[in-house]
Amino acid sequence: MPDQPQNQSPKHMHKKSFFAEILSLPNDSTKKTVFVALVLCLICSILVSTAAVALKPLQLKNKEADIKQNILAVAGINPEGKNIDEQFKQFDVKVVDLNTGEYVDNIDPDSYDQRKAAADPALGVPIPGEKDIAKIGRRSKYAKVYLLREGDEIKQIILPIHGYGLWSTLYGFIALEKDANTIKGIKFYEQAETPGLGGEVDNPKWQAKWIGKKVFDDKGNLRFEVIRGQVVAGISGSEYQVDGLSGATLTSRGVSNMVKFWLGEDGFGPFLKKFRSRNKTK
Ligand SMILES: Cc1cc2nc3c(=O)[nH]c(=O)nc-3n(C[C@H](O)[C@H](O)[C@H](O)COP(=O)(O)O)c2cc1C
Repeated sequence: MPDQPQNQSPKHMHKKSFFAEILSLPNDSTKKTVFVALVLCLICSILVSTAAVALKPLQLKNKEADIKQNILAVAGINPEGKNIDEQFKQFDVKVVDLNTGEYVDNIDPDSYDQRKAAADPALGVPIPGEKDIAKIGRRSKYAKVYLLREGDEIKQIILPIHGYGLWSTLYGFIALEKDANTIKGIKFYEQAETPGLGGEVDNPKWQAKWIGKKVFDDKGNLRFEVIRGQVVAGISGSEYQVDGLSGATLTSRGVSNMVKFWLGEDGFGPFLKKFRSRNKTK
């Protein structure tokens, strides 16, 4: 009988000899190449999934900071060199029932995710085809609003908006003055339109053209529009119009429609009406 270590089972010996056997094969053998490739795949997939899991909280934090930065920017606040969270304290973040236009107290604005809510059967509603000018299919019943305070006074209302352009759904914010009518700014934090064409929605020069434009006329009709071509200054109605992006009529129309949807009766319309009448009585 050949010598055999007493505590080594035949199974263990077999395993050991399997690896040893593979590694002792010549480098150009198919078996060894496949084995090394498989081991490499396994190591890489473990590394990638560990990194994805470990970096998730950081990604969420960065996303939140980016959204806050966009809200500050659309309100015309430059947080450069200052702490974003500190600057953000100027805003009251509230949740609004879009149907009634009233604030709701039983939803925590910090944890409320409007995108997820839209897809949730209990928290979202389908938008009938003829009303779905923003081409989003569904909307949440409740939406966040950001109120820029100065002491007791509300200086601006920042509203989240989104809608379909040509290639993508654009997500952004529109800021209104305290009259709930004059535009203070527009900004998109997510879009995938063509750079140089629809992607010009991110161009500060184009965004500057929105400042001071009105959304509603004196009778409360929603008149705002991103037109095709250039606005003729001074003509009747030009106060509601913004230049279309040249070579990007479809993205421009998408932006125009999303503003009409979100500031209209099926979006923040009821909230804006209540906000205006509340401010009038003050
Ligand atoms: C590669 C490519 C990318 C385009 N990207 C956009 C875009 O992001 N947004 C857009 O409105 N039009 C885009 N267009 C142009 C549209 O197809 C369409 O021609 C345009 O919106 C019409 O605008 P105009 O009447 O101002 O020329 C793109 C066209 C091509 C060929």
